[in-house]
Amino acid sequence: MNDLKVNIHEMKNRLHRFVVIVAKKNDQLIMVRHRNRETYEIPGGHVEENETLLEAAKRELYEETGALEFDIWPVGDYSVNDSFGRLFGATVSKLGSLPESEIAEVTILNESMNWTYDAIQPILLTYSDRYSNIRMLEKDDAKAFKQLLISLDNDTKNMLFEPGERTITDAALRERIEPGSFVIDDNGLKGFVSLSTGKYNRIKHSGHIVIGILSSHDHMKYGTLLFNKLFLYAESIGLHRLELTVMVNNEAAVALYKKMGFEIEGVKKHSMLVDDQYVDEYYMAKLLGAL
Ligand SMILES: CC(C)(COP(=O)(O)OP(=O)(O)OC[C@H]1O[C@@H](n2cnc3c(N)ncnc32)[C@H](O)[C@@H]1OP(=O)(O)O)[C@@H](O)C(=O)NCCC(=O)NCCS
Repeated sequence: MNDLKVNIHEMKNRLHRFVVIVAKKNDQLIMVRHRNRETYEIPGGHVEENETLLEAAKRELYEETGALEFDIWPVGDYSVNDSFGRLFGATVSKLGSLPESEIAEVTILNESMNWTYDAIQPILLTYSDRYSNIRMLEKDDAKAFKQLLISLDNDTKNMLFEPGERTITDAALRERIEPGSFVIDDNGLKGFVSLSTGKYNRIKHSGHIVIGILSSHDHMKYGTLLFNKLFLYAESIGLHRLELTVMVNNEAAVALYKKMGFEIEGVKKHSMLVDDQYVDEYYMAKLLGAL
């Protein structure tokens, strides 16, 4: 069981065997117990033929918990070794009685509980909780956002600004904040992905992206989760193309972008000067399709 490799990915058309729903009521995690087991699990199950993933998630949530009223959203595609499913988050406002099903008990997570899939589901819960820390950047975040950008300028040489170079005022930054950028809000802003869309008719379908995550919060799949949030938003406003540039030696970012479906389109030779060395950048882009 402990050799299982669990990961989170871009949402796309692929063979999804399962849906799993991290559902909370009053901020408490809903767990279910199968009638043949003593252990507890997060609701979920197999996707049926001719059913969308969202339909499957809503059906499983109702069948396994009796949830009657809820908000539900996709978090990402997860993998367990080579098998894929889609992870959803949900907030349940009304639980009804449990329909006829294989579930014997619906309850709230507590610390003494044993998980049925203890090498998988606690990780999915973590992804879902981190996804819930991501929200849209608002104009009122201007001051905190500027502090985040300054912290990033000191934290990494992989972005545009050198330490001390950022002179924009909070008020000017506030003016620049438009819908479509997202931040990690984990007791303060810890990272962001920004989206600037084309202003003219011939490029209105394109968006330019910048991403930056403090080193305190990297390697936690926030990059993947920020992109998943951004892709849903970009599709909802009809964008077709997302583009970015990245220093060729920024292995982590290039790997993240490839993982999220971006392709290298070309090289900007000597486009940056970092520590007295010219550095090339890749142009990378992704065309959005149906999720
Ligand atoms: C680059 C950055 C956005 C990655 O974000 P992250 O939250 O650490 O990424 P994730 O945890 O979601 O990892 C996703 C993928 O990125 C890649 N990755 C992340 N760190 C890596 C590293 N150190 N080396 C190689 N690949 C790495 C892997 O492919 C990983 O895939 P996996 O989930 O299958 O392991 C983040 O480290 C960052 O903001 N760095 C500083 C600023 C920066 O470089 N911005 C980009 C400028 S273009």
